[in-house]
Amino acid sequence: MHVLVFCMAGGEMISAEQHMNISIRAAFKAALAEACRFAGATAPNPPVGCALLDEYGKILTVAAHHRAGTMHAEARALAQAETLGLTAQIATAVVTLEPCNHAGRTPACSEALLRTPVQTIWIGAADPNPHVAGGGAARLLTAGRSVFWLADAGRESGDLLAACQGLIAPFVKQATTGRAWLTVKQALDASGLMVPPPGRSTFTSPEALTLAHRLRRATDAIVTATGTVQADMPGLDVRRVADHEERARRLLIVCGQEEHMPMAWRDRIEQKFDLRFCADVRDVPHMVAEAGGLWALVEAGPRLLSALRANNVWDDWLTISVGSDGHERMSVESRHAVSPLSLFLPEARGVTGVPVEDSACFPVS
Ligand SMILES: NC(=O)c1ccc[n+]([C@@H]2O[C@H](COP(=O)([O-])OP(=O)(O)OC[C@H]3O[C@@H](n4cnc5c(N)ncnc54)[C@H](OP(=O)(O)O)[C@@H]3O)[C@@H](O)[C@H]2O)c1
Repeated sequence: MHVLVFCMAGGEMISAEQHMNISIRAAFKAALAEACRFAGATAPNPPVGCALLDEYGKILTVAAHHRAGTMHAEARALAQAETLGLTAQIATAVVTLEPCNHAGRTPACSEALLRTPVQTIWIGAADPNPHVAGGGAARLLTAGRSVFWLADAGRESGDLLAACQGLIAPFVKQATTGRAWLTVKQALDASGLMVPPPGRSTFTSPEALTLAHRLRRATDAIVTATGTVQADMPGLDVRRVADHEERARRLLIVCGQEEHMPMAWRDRIEQKFDLRFCADVRDVPHMVAEAGGLWALVEAGPRLLSALRANNVWDDWLTISVGSDGHERMSVESRHAVSPLSLFLPEARGVTGVPVEDSACFPVS
């Protein structure tokens, strides 16, 4: 929780809604797009982005957190600004998540910001940890900086707030429940069936397949089931887009009985994945979290998906329906107010100028 803050600007008290402008929106979009590029690489930390602006609202530098144990987004953006000789021009910092106020494996970001001329800090999502929430913002306010929250910026900024909160939704779920976020991906043909024609492993378009690979890249674990393995012997790795560099082996959970696993497939898959079996699908979110993951993608057949539905073991559900005319329609169901999935769908393609093919996500519009 935070209180509505009015800050001094040129001697006047102004609210977040009044302070929000086209430059801050652009900065949030750039920070979100950069953070999305590292979704799937940061666990157990959340993806976070930061943009630094000069006094005219021009973006000086944008950065994201890359991997746990490496620089936070703010520290990386500040380091980039230093390398470019731009530190003296920093007037505003825009961060998708409240800056940390404690030194862990890396120094506190609030203190790093305070060592620069930054005057105004815009924050997307509040820190979900109840023990430290508000600490970073309070430290910056106490040091005389203006702090604005997206949550106070009015309905016009609701899309940005949802994006910042959606980006960390798996982290929030893991931190508050000890369970990972589960996104189910399901493709249906014109008859409402999931099973591809004989001899084929899919009936969706190349675009839908690429989206599946983007989601694999953005998530920390893949969940499948023995029926799908027996039918398709799937690779389940990231192929249609570049995977994260130096990424640790992805977790692959196969639901069902281990003895139903074809040995040839198992030998091949264990070269790429950290393979686990799960006899009870209700254990999957906990298993992923135990392994340090935040977000898992389910790619399995109708029997496992029925079990997930029946047990409410899912967070959001992407359905790709192929009509009889071959036209594809995507729909998303979510059990939560915000969703990370929304950041990776074509509808979120936006205005950051990052070409979609170069970005791990479709930037929000
Ligand atoms: N269209 C799509 O989006 C899509 C995606 C993936 C796959 N598919 C297709 O789906 C077909 C396979 O579907 P399927 O229904 O036969 O297989 P499936 O759902 O992939 O796997 C079924 C197996 O899951 C395990 N299982 C079921 N409920 C469980 C629970 N509550 N806890 C733990 N494990 C559980 C059981 O394994 P055990 O018997 O070993 O106990 C069961 O036999 C293939 O043709 C494949 O191409 C389609």
